[in-house]
Amino acid sequence: MSNDNDIPGGFVKNVIGYCDRISVLPGESIGLKLSSYTPGKAHVSIVELISGDDRPHGTGLIEKVIESSLGDAIDVPFQPLTQGSYGRVNSMPELGEGQLEVLVYPTLPRKAPQTLVNMAGVKLYVTENGFGVSSSEQDLFLDVTVQTHRWYEVSLEFGRPVTLKIKKLPLGSAEKPLAWTVIDDVDLSIGAGDWFLGAKQAGEECFNGRIEAPSILSVGEIIAGWDFSIGMDTQVIEDSSGNGRDGVLFQTPTRAVRGASWDGSHQSYLDAPEHYAAIHFHEDDLTDAGWKEIASWQVPKNMKSGQYAFKVTQEDSEEYVPFFVRAPKGRRGSDVVYLVPSATYLAYANIRLAFSGGMLGQSRLVDANQAFLFAHEDVGFSLYEHHADGSGVHFSSRHRPILNFRPKTGTWAFNADTHITAWLDAIGQEFDVVTDEDLHLEGYDAIDGYRVVLTGTHPEYFSSAMRSALSDWLAQSGRLMYLGGNGFYWRIAFCPQDPAIIEVRRAEDGTRAWIANPGEYYQQFDGQYGGLWRRVGGSPNELVGIGFAAQGFDGGTYYRVSAGALDPRAAFIVDGVDRVEEWGDFGVQGGGAAGEEIDRWDESLGSPLHALILATSENHKIGMLRVKEEFHMTRPLTEDPKVRADMIFFETPSGGAVFSVGSISYTGSLSHNGYDNEIERITRNVLNRFNDPTPFDYPVTE
Ligand SMILES: [Fe+2]
Repeated sequence: MSNDNDIPGGFVKNVIGYCDRISVLPGESIGLKLSSYTPGKAHVSIVELISGDDRPHGTGLIEKVIESSLGDAIDVPFQPLTQGSYGRVNSMPELGEGQLEVLVYPTLPRKAPQTLVNMAGVKLYVTENGFGVSSSEQDLFLDVTVQTHRWYEVSLEFGRPVTLKIKKLPLGSAEKPLAWTVIDDVDLSIGAGDWFLGAKQAGEECFNGRIEAPSILSVGEIIAGWDFSIGMDTQVIEDSSGNGRDGVLFQTPTRAVRGASWDGSHQSYLDAPEHYAAIHFHEDDLTDAGWKEIASWQVPKNMKSGQYAFKVTQEDSEEYVPFFVRAPKGRRGSDVVYLVPSATYLAYANIRLAFSGGMLGQSRLVDANQAFLFAHEDVGFSLYEHHADGSGVHFSSRHRPILNFRPKTGTWAFNADTHITAWLDAIGQEFDVVTDEDLHLEGYDAIDGYRVVLTGTHPEYFSSAMRSALSDWLAQSGRLMYLGGNGFYWRIAFCPQDPAIIEVRRAEDGTRAWIANPGEYYQQFDGQYGGLWRRVGGSPNELVGIGFAAQGFDGGTYYRVSAGALDPRAAFIVDGVDRVEEWGDFGVQGGGAAGEEIDRWDESLGSPLHALILATSENHKIGMLRVKEEFHMTRPLTEDPKVRADMIFFETPSGGAVFSVGSISYTGSLSHNGYDNEIERITRNVLNRFNDPTPFDYPVTE
């Protein structure tokens, strides 16, 4: 929560921001929240963002000025980033004497106190050395070696004397229950006021760990008792005492997690909510920066659908905050719609693996956005990281600056997807946009009537509603161009009260950054069993004909043309393509059209038998390794025939069709040689035919 901005590498990044929404209709207004580490005047304009890959060999930064200035009096204040989840209960009564009971499961106790319950200034807290209670006059402490990942029953009797009792519950047959008590002959009463759970207050003395069943008695009467097993899909903590003292959660602590009574007899919180009556708080949770709006833009009624951004400059510092303008309801601007993978942008929001020598093989900071992320954990995590206490990050939100949801930074997810918008611009193809969030909220209606849907390079995260909508649309003669790899892979859920927040449970298996705890595979937001779509009855192969096969970040390769390309059904695809052996041995994403993350056709996983395999990648670099969910035991493989990207085409029974390229790197090859190459030609051929309403003949007769 500091206003230090000491970023490395000589980069400057002082002004950062986010929008109040991700997509907006013409005629509506979109708000911009900004903060600056050098508060003062900034210049804000609106641009249409065509291409963001400003690397020397990239497609360049291409933007069109839509509104050159939103006024010259835009004053940007400093607004803090305050991490840490907590609960708050307003207006608790004065209590002269009584008893507080709570179950506590620390995951990262430190030397400094972490507040468990703040009762209007009287705090129950934990450190690595024990439990204590403090007020402005008293500090009573019980020296106990505090173990992590163990449940403690904590009981505080206040009034006079003050008694603090701690009992450690055993885990497994090797441990026995332990109990400690301390009594002090002093007065301790609680004044009227607001209570906090899991923090002293917002951003202060935040607790890492789980809390269950806090309850308060006074003069033998129940004052409040919060049952966290109620309303796990909400941010409300319900007082089950009948006194109506409900509270609210902030920064989305994790619910639907194992509580003190979980014994493995149930794996779903829906079957035994009482086993899941805990809430996991983290000192570094952040799902809403809560900044005030600094500027807004009224989208003109005639604005065409597309990808736009607020562009903010303040001296040497620059910030782009992208957003999407949709077509007015019932009035499409084009028959072609680009389905913006905004859920995947959230999943990767502020990922640090990309420049920390991890996933993407890059090990140095190359731009101001990365340098800012390197210096600022306080802007929150992606779904690929761990909290300080080691638990996986389950939630991501767009109510905060997302430094890699930007042009002019690493070409992964958003900025790689601008290779698609750059191509559409280069060929003069009009298109509308719909975001994942729109598709989730509106379902089929969001894409109803569009003839062609284009995906991004990596549409990895799909909610159940999104997947059903796309599947239903395909059944209504839709034509889908899946222009990426590792798509339709993880099931996610959107927060029912706030779709800016998504949830993932990395259950069972998958190529994944962390592993969900046993018994915690069900998503709190929608009750669905989380994990890979291929494990829950909706493989990507069933939807788009191919599914995740391998990943590697040491360079791309080409596709070898296969027999399917010669089939008359594919004649429209290869029309005008001179090369007949190899396609795509070039590109700005690793030097080949097949790379990074690749998908293959596989009948056993649900790929349709009548799909034409047009081309298959080969000769991958040594780092391109098969996905771990397909290994039963690990063993060295010298040559793995299942490591391949299959470019495929198939027709659907309703006259629609699917073209899938199976590679994240693919669209990085479109711009090669001034957009004059076979990858571009193939993709344009497909787009043009898909945009022709003539139904496709379904080739299967029996
Ligand atoms: Fe991914």
